This record gives sequence, C-alpha cells and structure tokens, in this order.
Amino acid sequence: HHNNRVRIVEVGPRDGLQNEKKAIPLQTKLQLIERLAGTGLQDIEAGSFVAPKWVPQMADSDSILSHILATPPASTNRMRYSFLAPNMKGFENAASILDQASTDRSSEDAGDPLIEISVFAAATESFSQKNLNCDIATSLERFRPVVQGARAKGLRVRAYISVVLGCPFEGYDVDPKKVAEIATDLLEMGADEIALGDTTGMGTAPRTSELLRAMQAAGVRTEDIAMHFHDTYGQALVNTAVSLEHGIRTFDSSVGGLGGCPYSPGATGNVSTEDMVYFVESLGMDCGDVDLEALSDVGQWISREIGKENASSVGKALLGR
Ligand code: HMG
Ligand code: MG
Repeated sequence: HHNNRVRIVEVGPRDGLQNEKKAIPLQTKLQLIERLAGTGLQDIEAGSFVAPKWVPQMADSDSILSHILATPPASTNRMRYSFLAPNMKGFENAASILDQASTDRSSEDAGDPLIEISVFAAATESFSQKNLNCDIATSLERFRPVVQGARAKGLRVRAYISVVLGCPFEGYDVDPKKVAEIATDLLEMGADEIALGDTTGMGTAPRTSELLRAMQAAGVRTEDIAMHFHDTYGQALVNTAVSLEHGIRTFDSSVGGLGGCPYSPGATGNVSTEDMVYFVESLGMDCGDVDLEALSDVGQWISREIGKENASSVGKALLGR
C-alpha cells in the first residue's frame, strides 16, 4: 500500500560530515556514499556547494559530484543524490560539473543517477544571519534563481527550513505560522519539497504536531513535506511518530547518527538511519529494501574513521549480537 511507504533520505555524507574539524579524505567520503548505496538506500545527500571558508569540510563536493556522474551505479536502484547550494555561485559550480558530464556521456541512460539541488532557509532572523550571512527575505531572493536554474535543468529541488522547532539564539520562540509562510514562498518559487529542520533537536511531540497543523492550515500538502530531526534531546523518533500520524512519509537521517550543524552550537547529529529503518519497519511500514546489518556496519566503520562513538542505538545493538 502506497501510504505504507516511507522514503528515507540519508544525509550522513553531508550533514554528518560537514562539522568535522579534521579533513576527511575524499576517498573515505566516496567509500561512504558507495557503501550507503550498497545497503539499498536510494536517496543520499552527498555534498554541499557552499563557501569553503565557511564550511571547509565540504570543499571537495565538486569531486564527489563528478565521481558520482562518472561511476557506474553502486546499486540496481535508481539513485538520487542531492547537494546543497545556497546561492548562484554554488549552483553554477554544480551546473558546470553536470554540463561537463553530459558532454562526456554520449546518451542518457535510464540508470543514470538523479541529482537534486537543495536550498536552505531559516525560520528565525538570527539563524539566517549566522548560517547564510543575510536576512530571511534576502536569502529567499537568492534562492529564486537557484530554484529556477535547477528546474530548467530538470533537477528536483528541495528547500530546507532550519530551526523550525527551536533556535540556538531565539530559543523556543519560533512561530509555526512564519515557518508555513516561508514554506509557501519556497513552493511558489518552484521547490518540489520542503524539509523542516529541527536543527537543535529542541522539538517535542506537541510542538511537532502544532507545526504540522500550521503547515496544513496554510495549505501545504503533506506529500511535499520532509522532516529532518536532529536527536540532541533524544526526541527524534517520538517526533517521527507524530509526523507519521500527520501523514508525513519522508524522513532524513544519518548513518551512525553522525553530525551537527556548524552554526548550531551543541547540536548533535540527525537521528541515525539504523534507528529510523528499525522504527519504520517495526510499524509494519516499508522503507525499501534496506539491509540493516550492512547499514550498521557502515555506521560503525565511518564512526571509527572519524574517531567518534557510534551514536546509533540500533546499530550498536545489532553489532553486539
Ligand atoms: P558571504 O561571505 O556573505 O558570501 O557568505 P559572499 O557572496 O560575500 O562571498 C564570500 C566568499 O565566498 C567569496 O570568495 C565568494 O566567492 C565565496 P572570495 O572572493 O572572498 O575568495 N563564495 C562561494 N564559494 C563557493 N561556493 C559558494 C560560494 N558563495 C560565496 N556557494 C554564503 C554567504 C551563503 C556563501 C555563506 O554564508 C555560506 O557558505 N554558508 C553556508 C553555511 C552552511 O553550509 N551551513 C551548513 C548547512 S545548513 C544545515 O546544516 C542545516 C540543515 O541540515 C537543516 C537543519 O538541520 O536545520 C540543512
Ligand atoms: Mg541538519
């Protein structure tokens, strides 16, 4: 049944790694992406075309995109890889790699990966300033040509809104109506999907519900919404359950629970993909054929590679069995 189908977007290679201080070798990143695709995950956020001065760890995203486009698929699934682009500079960098790859290839192949471009707004002015160095209105004007340019290339566009359930600078004082307004603007601009980011993990069940009611009241369709929960306070799966009850079927997660946002002090990683898959399947819902044991191995491997504790409860439980 269609309504039983949950789409999981693996954000580990981007959200999971962007905050690491020590440079991670390109080969490790490529191996991570390939191993994730090998577990059966179909949506992977693979990099970020942002200013290297701001987020040095993502500076090799051009090589990642080139590699993805030049390499035979790691999976029999039709893969979708997404990349962040906050402005035209980032989009043009991505677009030139895409143009080069289609010149190199003689013809389109049905197995070619789909590429997605993601813009990212914030629900509060202070977070917008910290993350994008401009106010919300200016950020939206900068996204417009990115969204149009991506669509003109036939690329799907995701639009994040950060700090929807709590802001490191403005606390819990985030207005759900404001979030819904920004979402409406982004959809009108041409975004295909809104990803609601609980950047700080401050979201609770009742506030998740309140936010999704505000989205519904503003006429945003549940099928156009993805939820992106960081698990700082351990509420991510509870908030996922609430979102499922509201009809949401797309969720972001990160293998090994990697990550955090450089502009959200103290925030930990996203809910782990191992926990997300286990949870979705425990409800009798279907998130595609993801090999949970293989995924747990990937979580353990990448945690070791970057010198971190494996932050996935399910991953650790399965590995210790
Ligand atoms: P700015 O300093 O105002 O930009 O930053 P600028 O236009 O003045 O340019 C400054 C320099 O950066 C120039 O270089 C530009 O060329 C360069 P210079 O002339 O000084 O040598 N530059 C770029 N280089 C490469 N790619 C680009 C680019 N743009 C400018 N795209 C800017 C504005 C938006 C660029 C900056 O603030 C930035 O890069 N911010 C990104 C912050 C970021 O990546 N945050 C993490 C991702 S969002 C997140 O994690 C939340 C999420 O997970 C959801 C959630 O959890 O809520 C998505
Ligand atoms: Mg995030």
